[in-house]
Amino acid sequence: MTFRIAVLVSGGGSNLQALLDAQASDALNGEIALVVADRADAYGLQRALQHSVAAACIPLKRPRDHAIRAAWERRLANVIAAFEPDLIVLAGFMRVLSPAFLERFPDQVINQHPALLPDDGGATVRTSAGIEIPALRGAHVVADALRLGLPITGCTVHRVTPAVDDGPVLACAETPIQPDDTEETLHERIKIQERRLIVEVVQRLANDA
Ligand code: GAR
Repeated sequence: MTFRIAVLVSGGGSNLQALLDAQASDALNGEIALVVADRADAYGLQRALQHSVAAACIPLKRPRDHAIRAAWERRLANVIAAFEPDLIVLAGFMRVLSPAFLERFPDQVINQHPALLPDDGGATVRTSAGIEIPALRGAHVVADALRLGLPITGCTVHRVTPAVDDGPVLACAETPIQPDDTEETLHERIKIQERRLIVEVVQRLANDA
């Protein structure tokens, strides 16, 4: 049975591209069955179509309206379920998914996060050099790492649980911060690691299935 993967994106989709490239060279051991975006201008949708992968945009127009958001999430879940994925990859997907969504796809959702996270939901994380740094959570963690003057940051792939930017860690990689880094230069170096890591994790989960 083919291991089926749905990828959710909100933006450029360079991590999605790494997965599409791995699939194109038969290195993924799975099939990207569907790409979904919450915004029509997410370039990841074009990347999917260029690889003849089904792509859907399910826009969330009024995210602060509880009823609208819940209906959007049900539609999102219905579309994903129709493609019967074994794994749902949040690859730069900038929406928090509710417990109701996660209950529908138990243990199937993984997330990429552009900072180091601990395995235990804690407030700090220890680097390989033994330095304890804050576990950065939320949507602005690359800027936060610079603002806090951290010597090192990185990226994490973890299973998604109802707690935001939490859940068992599947893989992580460290990225030293350079004195002249801007948010853009640092994020791009983190993303080089992320693109490698997400392919490795998906390969591993597909092999283990
Ligand atoms: C990645 O750095 C990913 O970790 C981050 O968005 C970027 C997507 O890049 N995700 C989050 O911040 C989720 N909260 P891409 O669109 O080039 O793949």
